[in-house]
Amino acid sequence: MTDQVIVKDEGAVRTIRMNRPEKKNALTSVMYDAMAEAIETAGGASPVGSILIMGAPGAFSAGNDLGDFMQAAMGGEGLGNAVIRFLHSLARCERPLVAAVQGVAVGIGTTMMLHCDYAVAASDARFSTPFVALGLVPEAGSSLIAPRVMGHRRAFELLVMGKPLSGEEAKACGLINQVAPSDQVEAEAMKAAQAIAALPKEGVAISRRLMKGAPDEIVQRIDDEAGQFKLRLKSPEARKAFEAFLSRKK
Ligand code: COA
Repeated sequence: MTDQVIVKDEGAVRTIRMNRPEKKNALTSVMYDAMAEAIETAGGASPVGSILIMGAPGAFSAGNDLGDFMQAAMGGEGLGNAVIRFLHSLARCERPLVAAVQGVAVGIGTTMMLHCDYAVAASDARFSTPFVALGLVPEAGSSLIAPRVMGHRRAFELLVMGKPLSGEEAKACGLINQVAPSDQVEAEAMKAAQAIAALPKEGVAISRRLMKGAPDEIVQRIDDEAGQFKLRLKSPEARKAFEAFLSRKK
């Protein structure tokens, strides 16, 4: 149990709110575990019809906690079990995933969108994946899904060059579905989540599976990326980048 993630069932919509606003919703192990648990238990005979992931007004998520990355780098570890569990839960999720994005969406905050079926973002949202600048490589199956969604060149700009995207740019390249004023993002996302949850569940599940294909390919890519990620975490480039962030003066 953690208050850093708030899970509620509102009718047939399960809401998952990342709730660490003082750290811009940088994700820790307990948060990954809580989010994975909420997603895993929404399948099968559960009455949940869709899952809505939300953050805080200024921050959907600042990505993985860089202090945790630093610790993993020092201990020679890779992405922890909780991260992998969460990524697998996204890939294997049995219900449509909806996201409401306001403010920053860094790293996994952006790559999560690739697993979502419907995403609404504020025009002042800022999607970015500074993996390579941090000495790292893309994760969450993004190296497989992003080129499919937006083509290799745009995916390269995002995932390798680390070029950020506004809400409008994210919509133009197919990363999200809808742009809304910041104060209406959650209401619009909830509307979509409710509309999806009101559809016949089996029809949605079968259609989604046909469209997405079997999750095994994505799970395999998540694991392959994690192998590379582990090696990169140990690299001097990565350690230098984490140290620079953690010791920066404001
Ligand atoms: N890991 C750990 N702490 C983080 C964090 C992260 N990924 N992102 C933000 N925080 C913390 C900051 O250290 C700060 O903590 P403090 O108040 O104790 O000093 C707090 O959250 C607020 O962040 P701040 O940088 O002051 O907010 P901002 O609005 O100026 O900038 C970001 C927001 C997200 C642009 C900036 O924090 C950032 O670049 N974070 C790192 C993102 C990142 O590289 N993630 C990993 C992706 S793989």
